[in-house]
Amino acid sequence: MDSETRQSAAHWDQMYAAARGATWHTDETISAYIEQRQFGKQGHWLGHIFQDVVKFRPKRLLSIGCGAGDHELAIARAGLAEEVHAFDASEVGIAQAQQTALAENLNANFFVDTFETFIDREFPQKFDTIMFVGSLHHVENMNDMLAKVSSLLTDDGKVMYNEYIGPCYISFPDERVALINHVLRSIPAEFKVSPDAQWRNPTMQEIQKLDPSEAVRSALIPQFLRLYFDVEWERGFGGGLLHPLFQQLNVNRLAVGDAASDAVVSMLIGIEQLLEDQAILPCDFVLGIACQKANAA
Ligand SMILES: C[S@@+](CC[C@H](N)C(=O)[O-])C[C@H]1O[C@@H](n2cnc3c(N)ncnc32)[C@H](O)[C@@H]1O
Repeated sequence: MDSETRQSAAHWDQMYAAARGATWHTDETISAYIEQRQFGKQGHWLGHIFQDVVKFRPKRLLSIGCGAGDHELAIARAGLAEEVHAFDASEVGIAQAQQTALAENLNANFFVDTFETFIDREFPQKFDTIMFVGSLHHVENMNDMLAKVSSLLTDDGKVMYNEYIGPCYISFPDERVALINHVLRSIPAEFKVSPDAQWRNPTMQEIQKLDPSEAVRSALIPQFLRLYFDVEWERGFGGGLLHPLFQQLNVNRLAVGDAASDAVVSMLIGIEQLLEDQAILPCDFVLGIACQKANAA
């Protein structure tokens, strides 16, 4: 394991060992907004994507960068795939996933591996579904990873992705930083982590110290996916404003769920939608299904 991967794995070990923090998509109102954008109805995306888009029950599913296995355990529990295989560099995450799979007697095989060694690993059988949930944006060598996925995917298999595709290292252009901070200034102090909370792009030192894999090549994802696969179905689900802004919000105050907190979140959703509709703000998150290229020659 190289030093950057070791640093990243250590970061995720710590994250999985601690209680899960709130993120923009764990907020109930924002989650309902995302579900509406993805499928035009409420309900978790996993159920909808298997039932409405994939439309077959995978025999062998592989998840790359599964973390503590939340999605893979949900798939196994709901019987959405026959066999579930999944790996991650975080030993803590994999141990938690294995423990739950064992305790619930689920047909899910979790193992520790890194993206870098996976690329050279042989598998006895191909997979009919390969998924990335918040993990492709942690892959630096996109060419080798996507070529490997294509070589491991059956001819009629599907690649499922739910990803951040915004600026690399979540380092926004100046205009976006100004826009985020303009909106932040208009939010009452009690709803922010501090009265003068502002977004600041991470420095290279901070990136290297915390998680060097965070959004390492995220902005390349849409183009690279299309070089290796045909995209069959894709939905953007925003996050251009809500994702960075949420980190500056006081989640305990929002959790009160009174009229004032509902109004703040609803207004922020409205601002994101308006700015996206006016092409002022890009969409930073996508959910999609791709297949082997029809004209691979
Ligand atoms: C945002 S988390 C997503 C985890 C999981 N898919 C989920 O949705 O909860 C990104 C994951 O990528 C993993 N990761 C980062 N770099 C990696 C590498 N080089 N090899 C394997 N996993 C890696 C991290 O350990 C982390 O669990």
